[in-house]
Formats: sequence, C-alpha cells, structure tokens
Amino acid sequence: MKDIDTKRQILRFFYERKNKYVSGEEISASLGFSRASLWKHINKLRLDGYLIEAVPHLGYTLKAAPDKMYGYDVGIGLGTDIIGKQKIWHYESLESTNNTAYELAEKGEPEGTLVVAETQTLGKGRLGRKWISPKNGGIYFSLILRPEMESDKVPVITLVAAVSVQKAIKKVCGISAGIKWPNDILIGGKKVCGILTELKAQPDMVDFLILGVGINVNTEIKKLPPEATSLKNESSRSVSRIKLMRRVLTEMEKDYQKMKNEGFMPIREECKKLSTILNKQITVKEYNSEFEGFAKDIDEKGALIVQKKDGTRKRVFSGDVCRDRSRPAR
Ligand code: BTN
Repeated sequence: MKDIDTKRQILRFFYERKNKYVSGEEISASLGFSRASLWKHINKLRLDGYLIEAVPHLGYTLKAAPDKMYGYDVGIGLGTDIIGKQKIWHYESLESTNNTAYELAEKGEPEGTLVVAETQTLGKGRLGRKWISPKNGGIYFSLILRPEMESDKVPVITLVAAVSVQKAIKKVCGISAGIKWPNDILIGGKKVCGILTELKAQPDMVDFLILGVGINVNTEIKKLPPEATSLKNESSRSVSRIKLMRRVLTEMEKDYQKMKNEGFMPIREECKKLSTILNKQITVKEYNSEFEGFAKDIDEKGALIVQKKDGTRKRVFSGDVCRDRSRPAR
C-alpha cells in the first residue's frame, strides 16, 4: 500500500474516534497493518504537522491537524464517485495549479484528478489577470474534467462550479454569497472567489477541461486587491480551509452529476436566483469596446443575454460586467 493511502486510513481512523485514545494494537488490528508500519506512519504524519499524542496504557489520540491541504486528508469523507477519487496532487507552491493540471491532463490523468497548492507564484485570473494567492490563506485548486460536451457549452461548467462554491460557503460559513456572471462569487459586492476554466478541444468537442478555483478564505485583507474580500473578513472568524474544500468538492460532484443527467436547466435556475446582475442595468466591457444594457437572462449555453438601449438583445459569452449603480434597476 502506498504511504498516502496508509496515512489516509490512519487519519480517518482518528477522525472517527475524536478525542478518544486508541491502543496501537487496536489500530493495527482494525487497519490490518503491522505495529511497525503503524509506528512508522504515525511518525510520518507527525512530520507533516499532525499532533498525535501517545500516552502509556491509553494509546494514541489526534490532538490537532495542521492547516494544510494534503491530498490524503482532503480526500477523507467526500462521498464522491469522481471528484477527488483520483489522485489529489498537493504542492507547497506552484506557479499555477491550472498549468500543472493542464500538463497532467495532457499526459492522460483521469477525470476527477485534483491539483492543490498552498500558494501560487503566478496564479492566473480571467482575461490575463493575476490571481493573488498568499500562502495558507486561501484555497487554490484545479480539477481535471473530461465531459462529453461541445466546446461552446463550456461556460456552463463555470456557472455550475460557481453554484457549488456558493452552496459550500453557505453551508460551512453561513454566508449567502452572490454569483456575478460569469465566474465571480461576491459578498457585499466584493470578490471572495474566482473561477478560471481552461480547455483543450477537438474541433467541436471538449477533450478536457481544467476548472481552477481560488477562494479567499483566511487571507489577510491587506494582501488582497481593494475589490476583494475574504471569508474570514466577512465572518470575523477563521474558516477551516480543508472543511470548506471538502464541501466544495462534494457540492461540485452533486451539481456536475446533475448537469450530466438533467442538463444545465435546473442549475441555471439556481444560478439565476443567486445572480447579482440579472434584472439590473449593467456595463459590459469586451476586448476593446463596452456597452450598457439591461441583464435579462442566462441562456442554455451559459451566455448572458443583455438588452441594449435600442431594444436589441446581445448574447455575451465573455467579458467583464459591472453594475451601473447610477441607474435604477428596471
Ligand atoms: C478570476 O476571477 O479571474 C479567476 C481566478 C481563478 C483563480 C484560480 S486559483 C486556482 C487556479 N489556478 C490559477 O492559476 N487560477 C485558478
């Protein structure tokens, strides 16, 4: 058995017996390891930062876990069939988890593979922007997906992921965030999460997708751009990154499966309800032009339908949208 599988089994064993002492004999017998192997792996977990106490006549107990996103730990209790069921690659630092995931996908890594980093030195945002990724403050991960999907429907995946992250934030932090088409999660108008979907495609069909998610969890506000916030800042308490990450993955699996089985329509409805721009006056900035209009709808391909001043409607597939607060919503 690989080290990471053994570590995961031991950790899961401790998590199921929170605050209890368990003898080495009992752990070895339950998990089917030798005492020597158990001892070796407990020491490896300690080196990773897990505080495992050993008390004579009582046994071992897990006192504390490090604030790390180790793949063997993230994968515990997900209840998923795809996401996180393959290898979870964990790095202390990467240029961009999307780049590493893309390389892995090109080498044939299966759907559901995850790449997680504690920090990114060249984190990427949409439209060539940077994603500031301070160490240990946020969640930075990329997921390899291989849906049977036409390339022009890819924007839908970003919206499905946004809905999943919104639900996870609500469940773990109790905060009701909004979704700003096409890829932002906002709290009180400030950005707490961004999603960057990249793809490799054959002429019409998707070969693979890289879904990159960045969430400002406990990030110090002074390290973020002025238009951003963090969950800690909004809730005035630290949030467990690993708990939130697990919840995001679990929600993503449910929504991804739902989309595969029922199409985008049900999730589109959720997305519309959570939208911060629908039924509002907005300005859309495209590559080298911009126009004003009224955000009418999100269509079956994930495009934003904007009604212009002259009454014509435009489908917007990418670009930046901002609310025009000087005008009343129609
Ligand atoms: C945006 O809001 O423009 C998208 C931000 C996406 C950031 C995430 S962090 C993990 C993944 N790796 C990257 O380089 N970018 C995405």
